[in-house]
Amino acid sequence: MNIILLGPPGAGKGTQARRLVDQRDMVQLSTGDMLRAARKSGSEMGRKVAAIMDAGELVTDEIVIGLIEEQLTTAQPGGGFIFDGFPRTLAQADALAALLQRLGQNLDTVIEMAVDDDALVARVSGRFTCGDCGEVYHDQSKPPKDPAVCDECGSANFVRRADDNAESLRVRLLEYYKKTSPLIGYYYAKGLLQTVNGLDSMDGVSASIRAALDKVEQTGSIAS
Ligand code: AP5
Repeated sequence: MNIILLGPPGAGKGTQARRLVDQRDMVQLSTGDMLRAARKSGSEMGRKVAAIMDAGELVTDEIVIGLIEEQLTTAQPGGGFIFDGFPRTLAQADALAALLQRLGQNLDTVIEMAVDDDALVARVSGRFTCGDCGEVYHDQSKPPKDPAVCDECGSANFVRRADDNAESLRVRLLEYYKKTSPLIGYYYAKGLLQTVNGLDSMDGVSASIRAALDKVEQTGSIAS
């Protein structure tokens, strides 16, 4: 099953994608993580996108479509692909449809994680991740059991993202509403959209996503 997790910055896409990887053996394809890895590697592309990402703007369609194409054609699909943070524009959505068709695959459902902007500010400003395994934490809603050690891998290397500040978040939200939110109507019209309450607890959101995926698996469609 191939799915998209769609939602604004801080909606919880990465958190839920990691749970689906554990629970369903799915493969997370996060364009944000791919771009951060390119920056860290010091590649020419990584250097090109660094300032754009820090400002909270979207990098070009050409770059992210290229990254996704590379992963889709080389990664083992396991229990299916989770597109996390991609597509973010109508051009990216069309490119994904063409890519999947070329590979003889389908997009099974799009899960919109609905949240409100006030919650996003609190989520993004309290976020930190393990620099070694990528586990996502939050100062209030998900602190590690031992404050100095990652629950998953035991590392003490916690990092905060350069774009998790008030000014960058404002730009990221504007980019979301201008360029990404039209995808909600696009996938609704294609009969693929399901919406979950992203303001629920992490476990509550996981249960809603599980129900949405079960519906697709049991009926082959999201029509009720
Ligand atoms: P990207 O890395 O994709 O960032 P984003 O979309 O802004 O999403 P986030 O990672 O900020 O949030 P999330 O929804 O994953 O939330 P999380 O689970 O971490 O993109 C970064 C940049 O890369 C972009 O700005 C752009 O420049 C570029 N880029 C990437 N993809 C691109 C594309 N396709 N096209 C063009 N440019 C692209 O959760 C957030 C926090 O909340 C965490 O601390 C978590 O613990 C907590 N939390 C999660 N769920 C809950 C809950 N239910 N209750 C309480 N707390 C919760």
